[in-house]
Amino acid sequence: MASRLPPLRGVLLWLHFFLLIGLGTAYKPLSDGFLRAIPSPGDEFNIDNSTGILAPLLIPRVPGTAGQVVAQRHLVDYFQRELPKWTITWQNSTQKTPTSKNTELPFANLIIRREPPWVKPGQTNFLTLVAHYDSKLKPDGFIGATDSAAPCAMIMWAAKVVDGYAQQMYDEMSELGEGGDVDMDMGIQILFLDGEEAFETWTDTDSLYGSRSLSNFWVNSPNPPAQKFYKYKTPLSQISLFMLLDLLGSSEPSVPSYYTTTHWAYRAFSNVESRMRSLNLLESSPPSPFLPDVNKTMALGGISDDHLPFIWRGVETLHVIPQPFPRVWHTSADDGPHLDMKVVRDWARIVAGFMLEWLDMMEVWSGEEPEAGSTLAIHDGR
Ligand SMILES: *[C@@H]1O[C@H](CO)[C@@H](O)[C@H](O)[C@H]1NC(C)=O
Ligand SMILES: *[C@@H]1O[C@H](CO)[C@@H](O)[C@H](O)[C@H]1NC(C)=O
Ligand SMILES: *[C@@H]1O[C@H](CO)[C@@H](O)[C@H](O)[C@H]1NC(C)=O
Ligand SMILES: [Zn+2]
Repeated sequence: MASRLPPLRGVLLWLHFFLLIGLGTAYKPLSDGFLRAIPSPGDEFNIDNSTGILAPLLIPRVPGTAGQVVAQRHLVDYFQRELPKWTITWQNSTQKTPTSKNTELPFANLIIRREPPWVKPGQTNFLTLVAHYDSKLKPDGFIGATDSAAPCAMIMWAAKVVDGYAQQMYDEMSELGEGGDVDMDMGIQILFLDGEEAFETWTDTDSLYGSRSLSNFWVNSPNPPAQKFYKYKTPLSQISLFMLLDLLGSSEPSVPSYYTTTHWAYRAFSNVESRMRSLNLLESSPPSPFLPDVNKTMALGGISDDHLPFIWRGVETLHVIPQPFPRVWHTSADDGPHLDMKVVRDWARIVAGFMLEWLDMMEVWSGEEPEAGSTLAIHDGR
């Protein structure tokens, strides 16, 4: 905790404040030893493991159907059982769709948060991991394994990896009396969004039911006035990065960098991948990296997805969706057996690594590093 200072008073408080701002943006890469310590989901992701993370989601999950209730229960049960310190809230709406005639269908977004214990409402900045958990009405029996059962599972796994370190970070900062109106009031927020898919044909009104509802709700939910230096006016401004995972789990994905304003985050993400590859920590061996575009961003805008209602309200987005889409996209072949499990497990670990780095967890890492000169040692250039 060398870079975290004990609390100071008066004039020195300001010094502390500015130092923390500097440190908060320092962004320290994870060490090789830390990257090695990120576990693989292993059997938890087996597509026939009914007590695992992924298999229970590999069913049709259309809004308003029994399958969707099963998926909702699985998401909630997992966090209640494995990650009891995370708070779970719903943001629900009902909306008509082109196929529901005059009936309002229920749409339920899940908001799951891990916050520092000292924060007041509206004080935390959230690294926000997002995926949609609904599945498409057509074709009949559509599973949506990449779309987005597997991305939900990746996020669930990564949350478990990060949880223990978050606890350690919060404990140490609490002990030192730190935290409160600073950049370091970092939390993790997971959004499992409903109703991403169109029921008939993708239009502005037939799609993104859940994300439109949530972004609307949040823009109209002002936070209480902040105590000191920072003001996050609404939950939207508390999102430091909206990291949306979609259509992941097929072989040889290639995810471009869509937005110049978050290209630096893309680079950091890509760097975690390439470092994990060079340390032989990943199982897949694709011809090119999952995140190849460290030196360029897309010339022309992005893809219509759950981030749009948030982007329109100024939220910074990292859209993790491959180009081209998986071959199985929106077909009955987008199911468990068509997933490339090595790729699915690799994504989960890369996402976990990125989260740990974003959350500055080198501050609490005290694990083993390979000895200098040993065959395992790879100089990381820092
Ligand atoms: C299923 O996942 C659980 C963890 O949830 C794990 O303990 C178990 O070994 C897995 N079983 C199989 C058959 O893969
Ligand atoms: C929102 O919907 C979910 C899923 O149907 C349900 O479990 C929950 O109780 C609802 N919450 C509220 C506040 O209506
Ligand atoms: C990106 O640019 C840097 C500096 O020009 C270069 O060294 C590196 O090889 C490039 N990376 C890729 C993947 O093209
Ligand atoms: Zn889809």
